[in-house]
Amino acid sequence: MPSLRVLLSSQQIHARVLEMAAAIDRDYSEGPVYLIGILKGACIFLADLARAMKTPVRIEFIGIASYGRGKSSSGEVRLTKDLDVSIEGYDVFLVEDIVDSGITLTYLAHLMAQRKPKSVRIATLLDRPGRRQRPVEVHYVGFKIPDAFVVGYGLDYSEDYRNLKDVCVLEE
Ligand code: IMP
Ligand code: MG
Repeated sequence: MPSLRVLLSSQQIHARVLEMAAAIDRDYSEGPVYLIGILKGACIFLADLARAMKTPVRIEFIGIASYGRGKSSSGEVRLTKDLDVSIEGYDVFLVEDIVDSGITLTYLAHLMAQRKPKSVRIATLLDRPGRRQRPVEVHYVGFKIPDAFVVGYGLDYSEDYRNLKDVCVLEE
């Protein structure tokens, strides 16, 4: 039976999200900025981040599939849902749950850049730098985490556990 061990409590996450929102507000007070949530894992982080920010935001989602049912990247990235609007001339934030190999964000950063935004930055709740295969510049990082598979606060394992309040290590 798999077991769950709390790595980051909901209180820790809440406090850090407030800090990240304040940092983004300092950098972009004018707005509107486009927060682009990478489905589905980033939806809960995006919802909390957007509400903690004072800068006016617009919310968009983009769908990407890189993981199958397993715990490691297939190495393939597929667009499953595109943006609904043009981002030309806007400040854009890709909002991610976790940066692992870096394959997803390398792909998306290139794709967004082709659409002539004013700027593209990346905000991620979690960063696992130990498994990077592609270098990505991540501008706002919530927590650096060790090499363990995590679930909760939006992150899943085969679509389960997304609604846990804490980020937990999934142990077999
Ligand atoms: P990357 O392309 O390898 O950087 O993969 C990033 C994506 O893989 C994230 O958006 C997550 O959806 C998924 N992912 C990576 N690590 C984990 C994990 O520990 N738990 C759940 N999903 C993960
Ligand atoms: Mg994801």
